[in-house]
Amino acid sequence: MSSFNHRKYRPFPPVAKTDRRWPDNVIEHAPDWCSVDLRDGNQALIEPMTPSQKLSMFQLLVDVGFKEIEVGFPAASQPDFDFVRQLIEQDLVPDDVTIQVLTQAREPLIARSFEALQGARSAIMHLYNSTSTVQREQVFKMSREEIRGISVQGAIWVRDYAAAQPETAWQFQYSPESFTNTEMDYAVEICDAVIDVWQPTPGNKAIINLPATVEVATPNVYADQIETICDQIGRRDCVRISLHTHNDRGCGIAAAELGVMAGADRIEGTLLGNGERTGNMDIVTMAMNLYSQGIDPELDFSDMDRIINVVEACTQLAVHPRHPYAGELVFAAFSGSHQDAINKCLLIDEQERRLKGPDTHWKVAYLPIDPRDVGRTYQEVIRINSQSGKGGVAYVMEQDYGLILPRWLQVDFSSHVQQFAERSETEVSTGQIRQIFQDTYIDVDMPITVESYQASRAKGSDQLTAMLLTQNGRIEISSDGKGILDAFVSAINSKLDSRLVLVDYSEHTLGDNEQSEAMAYVQLNINGKRFCGAGCSEDIVGASLRAVLNAVSRAGVRIDTGAAPVLEAIKIAN
Ligand code: KIV
Ligand code: ZN
Repeated sequence: MSSFNHRKYRPFPPVAKTDRRWPDNVIEHAPDWCSVDLRDGNQALIEPMTPSQKLSMFQLLVDVGFKEIEVGFPAASQPDFDFVRQLIEQDLVPDDVTIQVLTQAREPLIARSFEALQGARSAIMHLYNSTSTVQREQVFKMSREEIRGISVQGAIWVRDYAAAQPETAWQFQYSPESFTNTEMDYAVEICDAVIDVWQPTPGNKAIINLPATVEVATPNVYADQIETICDQIGRRDCVRISLHTHNDRGCGIAAAELGVMAGADRIEGTLLGNGERTGNMDIVTMAMNLYSQGIDPELDFSDMDRIINVVEACTQLAVHPRHPYAGELVFAAFSGSHQDAINKCLLIDEQERRLKGPDTHWKVAYLPIDPRDVGRTYQEVIRINSQSGKGGVAYVMEQDYGLILPRWLQVDFSSHVQQFAERSETEVSTGQIRQIFQDTYIDVDMPITVESYQASRAKGSDQLTAMLLTQNGRIEISSDGKGILDAFVSAINSKLDSRLVLVDYSEHTLGDNEQSEAMAYVQLNINGKRFCGAGCSEDIVGASLRAVLNAVSRAGVRIDTGAAPVLEAIKIAN
């Protein structure tokens, strides 16, 4: 029999609520953030952080802008105790940062936690005990009253030990652990009982932290729970409601966001989501979500690579390449239609930004934020494989090599890149793309080159004489036309029994000074088939003539320098 039996599970009961307001609320400013990387995150690691890893994590958290940092569980771990002491004794905590430690509601542990914090300028003592039905009934085998007694007694010890260390500016925090599985009326009762002991004021608020210790329902249910607590708890103006979500259903961030809409003031989480089981709420993603809505997250993630490096080094966990905002692939587009759209939008964005300034609204398809904001470059945006199309290839050519391919050449060239990608079955690097371009349109087989030319311009008609070097020797050609290029094409035509027609032409310089080389692109119709060529030279005429001859050579047209010029069977290069 299959062990996969859904009847084993029950749906989470919805919160009975008729006055639900949070769905209409909009987050307008950043919550207070508290990092728990050094406590909850550290407790979840296969190998807990070493002292130097802890220090580098702490420094990162300070640099990113956290003002509240849970630095350990000193009563439960000697290394955590030592780390807290190191921070205080070496004066490593900036004046505007408050450290927090976690303690269970047992007197010796509370005493030890206060000992760890001796001499701290300011600190948060974070008291917790488990309050859920399952924990009460099966783990502790205690009644609601008995569990409330533990919380209240813990709160009394915290209050009294703090009073004995008046040199520290104390804040108190209480977590009814496993809150989401706790009856709401009981959660209110127990939080109120703790608040009654602590007697917070609007000037020195208590923190009531409501953990989704295990995520058990959809995020809207969590938001209902948070709104219920916010509505029913006493002295709301003296309390900061804090959220601490885990990610068991993969919705830890969504739950925290809806919880803020439901009235919470503060968020606990970790950088990139390390933490017990599926992790803690990822503060990077939540903060960047706010950022992408035009809200200052009050945390600075502009050096995302440093964040990734430190987190990976401290946790020994690799950041997933598709991790929101941070992963290596999250700004990369391989699909042709996406690349095309991104390419067009980026060009418009660049122009608008130049005209209207840096606050111009970001409206780029497929990119929720500007990758440059987190230290990424556009090179990482457009990546080429066999799924890619002309937009992406054109983008790479322009961004990396300054080659502005006209649309008709983009179409032609992308098919060459695609063939290469299909053959190699890998991503194609920008260097390889540039090489394919060179091999296809410039360093062509059996080239015909211009040895010298003379052009004269006159009103209505230009005259061109050129000495060509072919595989069979030299030949001089000459003609006039409406422009130098037209004259050149007619000069070649005069030596062939078939007709070349110039279909498209484009040129640009490769820099913005007088010494800059010129690049020309042409498309010829030769015997009903189209051939593209490109040419580079110090001057635009030389580049154009080379481009024409490269297209001619690609077509396999061999100019016989003897008696009769011959148009050989066309070798189709593409
Ligand atoms: O997940 C949790 O409930 C906790 C508490 C100790 C806050 O980490
Ligand atoms: Zn936790």
